[in-house]
Amino acid sequence: MDLESQIYVRKSCRKYLDDEIDMTPIKEFIPKAKVLNSDIDYSYKILTKDELSIRTRWKAPYYLALYSEKKENYGVNLGFIFQQLSLYMQSIGIGSCWVGMANVKQKDPNFVITIAFGKSDDLTRDLSKFKRRSLSEISDMEDERLIPAQLAPSAVNSQPWYFKHTDDGFDVFKAKHNIVKQKIIGKWNDIDMGIALSHLYISNPDAFEFEFKNKADIKGHTYFGSVKI
Ligand SMILES: Cc1cc2nc3c(=O)[nH]c(=O)nc-3n(C[C@H](O)[C@H](O)[C@H](O)COP(=O)(O)O)c2cc1C
Repeated sequence: MDLESQIYVRKSCRKYLDDEIDMTPIKEFIPKAKVLNSDIDYSYKILTKDELSIRTRWKAPYYLALYSEKKENYGVNLGFIFQQLSLYMQSIGIGSCWVGMANVKQKDPNFVITIAFGKSDDLTRDLSKFKRRSLSEISDMEDERLIPAQLAPSAVNSQPWYFKHTDDGFDVFKAKHNIVKQKIIGKWNDIDMGIALSHLYISNPDAFEFEFKNKADIKGHTYFGSVKI
């Protein structure tokens, strides 16, 4: 299973076919995905579009509704786990898109976010088509090891991450927002951070470690953790 190559061709899929999907590979993959914090219980449901209130103009045949205990770092944990699934689905011809603009009709206090998915014939794109900040904008030093994180998807493409070099990897920072922006995208930014970390993990599966070390914030960004790769 080559998930790393998917990072360089993936895109948020918003055009789906109505084909039925065998959910077995998806259900088998999820418990095998690496978790960032094993102390946080999470779960998922596979729903159809009729079981959700969806505020996007496009719809997918299926949605994963993601739930988590609301312990500290639950968002980053969910982003980390389910981005691995998104790359896996892409590798077997299933497109997906994280969707913040949807809610489950059956209310649940542990509901966090959805991921639209389905068969698609519009799954990939050329590397040149990614719209992303440059490596020098997201790091103190240009470093090709950060390309997988640079290419990670994020809510409204906000790319809230910043990386500072350390001896064995990077200190990771998350953008601070003003009140208005915080309300709109702030709540998704922990998921974004988890997604970027999962791309670093997929690209460095043996070396990857993530740890919180109590480091100082930097201008415009809050310290988020330190990654070894
Ligand atoms: C947490 C999160 C929430 C998102 N919510 C939506 C959404 O509600 N509607 C939508 O069309 N795309 C949504 N997206 C997809 C982003 O717009 C997309 O990842 C970003 O623009 C970068 O494009 P790419 O994924 O094709 O690289 C979301 C992505 C993330 C990570």
